[in-house]
Formats: sequence, C-alpha cells, structure tokens
Amino acid sequence: MGFSTDAIHVGQEPDPSTGSIVAPIYQTSTYVQEALGSNKGYDYARTNHPNRKALERTVAKLEGGVAAYVFTSGMAAIDSVFRLLRPGDHAILSRAVYGGVYRLTTQFLVQLGMEFSFIDTSCLEQVQKALRPSTKMIYVETPTNPTMIVTDLAAIAALARDKNLTMVVDNTFLSPYLQQPLALGAHIVVHSMTKYLNGHSDCIAGAAILSRKEDAEKIYFLQRSAGAGLAPMDCFLVSRGIKTLAVRMDRHNLNGMAMAKFLESHPKVQRVIYPGLPSHPQHAIAKKQQRGFGAMLSFDVGSLDSARNLLNHVKLCSLAESLGGVETLISHPASMTHASIPADVRKQIGIADGLVRLSVGIEDVEDLIADLDHALAKI
Ligand SMILES: Cc1ncc(COP(=O)(O)O)c(C=O)c1O
Repeated sequence: MGFSTDAIHVGQEPDPSTGSIVAPIYQTSTYVQEALGSNKGYDYARTNHPNRKALERTVAKLEGGVAAYVFTSGMAAIDSVFRLLRPGDHAILSRAVYGGVYRLTTQFLVQLGMEFSFIDTSCLEQVQKALRPSTKMIYVETPTNPTMIVTDLAAIAALARDKNLTMVVDNTFLSPYLQQPLALGAHIVVHSMTKYLNGHSDCIAGAAILSRKEDAEKIYFLQRSAGAGLAPMDCFLVSRGIKTLAVRMDRHNLNGMAMAKFLESHPKVQRVIYPGLPSHPQHAIAKKQQRGFGAMLSFDVGSLDSARNLLNHVKLCSLAESLGGVETLISHPASMTHASIPADVRKQIGIADGLVRLSVGIEDVEDLIADLDHALAKI
C-alpha cells in the first residue's frame, strides 16, 4: 500500500467489539483477567495498552522498522536509545543537535560513564577522525536544529556498517513522509512526535523505531520498566494527527519553499538556511535523500537587536518554542531552544544571536509573507 493508505489504516482497524471506525481511548490503568494467568493481551497500562499498540504499529510501518515504541516525549525516547550504551562506551553526535540532547548527554549521561563527541557529521572525514576503539554509536540529526546542516545518511551508514556501530537518526524535522533513514542503512530512528507526526501542537510525544529485533527487545524492556510509555489520550491524538501527515507535509513543502525564496530576496535578511535552496551547502545531498525539503528554515538578521525587533512585531507567526504544527511558529534559538548550550559553543556551531528559526505552517502563504514583510520593515 502507499504511504497515505498506511498512515490512515495500519494500526487503525475498526474496533472489533462495536465497529467504531475510530478506536476508543482506553482510559484505564488495569485490565481484568479472565482467570489466573489468562487475559486479553493487556494487564497493566504502564506495560501496554491498545492505543499505544495501535500507534506503535503505524509508526513502525511508516518508518519501515521491525518495531516502534512510543514515549511521553521525544527526549524520553532518545534517552532510552542512549541507554543501549554501557559505561565506557563512546558515541559521536551531530555537532548542532537539539539543545535538550546536548543537555541530556553532557550533563547527565556522562555521569553514567558514557562519552560523547559533537562532530560535524556532514563531513565524513571529521567523523572518521573522531572514532575511538570504544565508539559504539553515531547519532545524526539531519537537518540539524536550527542550523539546517544536512548529513549524507548513506555515507554515514556505510561507515557504521564497516565499524560495527549503531546508527541513530533523529528524523523529527522531516517525518517519514520526506525521509526514511532505515531504508538508507540506519538502525534506529527517533522522533519528537510532538512535531510533524502529531502536527497539531496539542501533545508531547516521542518514538523510537528499530530495525533490529535485539534493539527492539531492549527498548521495550526499558519502556515498560522505566514507565515512560505514552498515555492513551496522547496516543489517540498522535494517531489522529498521522492520518493527515502526507497532505500536511505536501503543503509544508510548498509553504517552506515560498517563504525561503521570499526571505532570500529580502534586503534585511543576511542569509537564509533552507536545504531546498541551491545556496544551501548540502542542497544536492538533501535532494538525493529527501522526498521534499520540509518547512523548517533559519535566517540571520545580523544582530540580537534586529532579531528582537522582528520577533516583537510579527502578528500571525507566533513567538514560541516547538515546531511542526499546522500554525507557523517563530523563535530565537540562542535564547530559547538552544539556551542550554554555552555561548561559545553556540557561536562555534553557527547559532548566531541574529539567527531566527521559522517553522512554516500550512496557512495561506501570502498571509505569512505579508506578516514577515511587515515585521522585517521594523528592523
Ligand atoms: C529535533 C528534535 N529532537 C528532539 C526533540 C525533543 O522532543 P520533545 O520536546 O518531544 O521531548 C526536539 C524538541 O524540540 C527536537 O526539535
């Protein structure tokens, strides 16, 4: 079946007991057992419940994994994946990963004896140089948040295969509709489903999708033992959101490109970073491995003052953290999403004080352009 058909039907069969086309929300903590040792497949909702199982089937299918596990946040999913490492193990991460991943690894997981290097994964030689005998994992975010650096997934997958490393890809910015890392050789995909998969900015959720049974068993063990599995209502919301993923992403692609072109031609904008523009350094790789360029972009207005002026004058675009919803969000990475990264590191990885990030929604793009045009005039 095609992607949209799978997104609408896999895991979403009508409820067998009533025929309800949409599965009910199983808002219960426990399941009555028919007799000692005999139940209908569920016993306690931390371990599993029908809404979670349904969503996990959908997400595994869309990413092409053998299994998926959904969590209370993207960070909870990512944390579980890092727990596949043992004390003394080393992991290489994309240099400009999401700020929360930087915080989790450098401030907490290091205390468990794991080691992390932050490398420009768009440069294969730098990744090769960073390898140690103890390296066990490569964790790639592509495109990176908010610097939009694109990593060649097939090239990193070849290296991971060669060196026997686990390759993890954060596919949040594109969704499986636009990029399928497992098909390119990655072993694990993680998502903040808070973003495009849910798409409506009304819940926090995450997923880990596995291509190997042995990883799946470990992640499921962690999910049910540590108890960060996603609750029924939130599973229901993400399942509903996923049904329109393909049509939303088609519109996001169009609006993202229109906005990038508008900004690139604007005299108050110094630089636009959008993988769909020929000016983007990894445009050719993005074209090769993505089915579209998505709707995340960053642009530099030169200084903190200019960024503040712009952000204080937008009306339709909302000044807020997060991304991937139907509504356009605008943010200032240096003081918001990436504030947990020290200023000198931010500078090194290209998160300038004048950098503004845009998550272009699916509104009428003429209205979005008019809003930004008006706000840019205030700089
Ligand atoms: C690329 C990326 N990965 C992971 C996360 C973390 O996800 P969550 O906020 O759902 O925990 C985010 C959050 O913004 C993100 O942008």
